[in-house]
Amino acid sequence: MNDTNLFSPSEYTAALLLYVRQHAARVHACRVLELGTGSGVVMATLLALGAESALGVDLEALAVEATQNLLSQEHLLTRASLVQGDMWDACGDERFDLVVTNLPQFAADHIEYDGRLASWSAGGPDGRRNVDQFLGGLSHHLAPGGLAVMTHNVFLDFNKTQAMADSLGLQARVAYCASAPLPLHKLASLSPHVLARFTGQGIHHVGEYWFVDFDLVEISWKHEGPEAALLQGRQG
Ligand SMILES: C[S@@+](CC[C@H](N)C(=O)[O-])C[C@H]1O[C@@H](n2cnc3c(N)ncnc32)[C@H](O)[C@@H]1O
Repeated sequence: MNDTNLFSPSEYTAALLLYVRQHAARVHACRVLELGTGSGVVMATLLALGAESALGVDLEALAVEATQNLLSQEHLLTRASLVQGDMWDACGDERFDLVVTNLPQFAADHIEYDGRLASWSAGGPDGRRNVDQFLGGLSHHLAPGGLAVMTHNVFLDFNKTQAMADSLGLQARVAYCASAPLPLHKLASLSPHVLARFTGQGIHHVGEYWFVDFDLVEISWKHEGPEAALLQGRQG
């Protein structure tokens, strides 16, 4: 892999793009946020679907540059803001109607021979490092009536995500299920305890070809209405 495809979108991002296209009404005239813009394809799609404004955040200067270039190429820069930073630190006290993200969530500290930046997909031993950071800050940035959509690998354990969301006054539900090839170099880096626990239950192989299941998870407020708006204000 060389520099020209450092930010090639993955199957996870492709699924997120499909979701966004199929839910265009949720995007139109909304304030949207993408955490981890990478190539910029999700930001570009959100803006093309008529988002009122879109903030894109990425830890990597090169990703912000890639996103900026793509938006410029597609003439979509006017309603966009891009910030290089660490997730919610880059969002001030803003709230968003729609938050979308395909965070690093591979259960490994480091992935050998990936040809990507180190921050692209490694999510720590159980994959949850960035996901927990995301959920921990979400209630401070989700507008009343807002929706967050995230890619969610099988080994993140949906029960953990659901429990964490619940403790924050949020609810999580699986909106879409898919499976992606698991390349051998990534398989070699996968935490052994995760491989042992999920093989046959979300991680599958047919001969030497491996696959991993993932979901798109929707997160919204558990309660809506004026009383809930007060509660949500207190979360912020
Ligand atoms: C799996 S990639 C997805 C990128 C994008 N959706 C695409 O396919 O073009 C994850 C992205 O999150 C970014 N990232 C990793 N940690 C981050 C953090 N703490 N805050 C913001 N972005 C982060 C990475 O630089 C990378 O661009």
